[in-house]
Amino acid sequence: MKTFIAVAILMTLSVFSIAEARVKVTGHGEKLNFSREGIPEKYKSAFNLMQEKCIKCHTMERTVIAVQTGRAPITGQPFNKQAVKAYAITMLRKQNSDFNKKEMLDIVVLLNYLLDENAK
Ligand code: HEC
Repeated sequence: MKTFIAVAILMTLSVFSIAEARVKVTGHGEKLNFSREGIPEKYKSAFNLMQEKCIKCHTMERTVIAVQTGRAPITGQPFNKQAVKAYAITMLRKQNSDFNKKEMLDIVVLLNYLLDENAK
């Protein structure tokens, strides 16, 4: 019974987050990702960088949910443009993250674009 309720809640939550989604996404659960389609040419290299570097420690699901809901899923902190900058610094400082500042800035600009798309 408990499992059933947990599954029901999870399903409701995931339907809810998809219904809310304005930024284009693909996949579900761990495979949830931003859709490459519709990413403007000028953001493509940052997009590739994000797909390569932001999945070293966790899946893209975390980042997609943050953009979709405006909340960082682990700590529940607001995820807006100001927060993106702060998270970029946090992720940059984490051990084993191999970004340089320029790469991180490119990803910040891309995440700001995705936040704007989601707000449309
Ligand atoms: C070196 C490992 C590592 C890399 C690389 C990394 N992350 Fe994280 N990320 C974490 C950990 C660990 C957490 C859990 C919360 C924490 O410790 O800050 C996290 C949490 C998050 C969260 C949720 C934060 C919250 O407060 O709920 C988001 C969003 C996120 N990461 C996005 C990204 C993005 C975008 C990138 C690429 C620019 C990235 N991460 C790269 C380790 C990493």
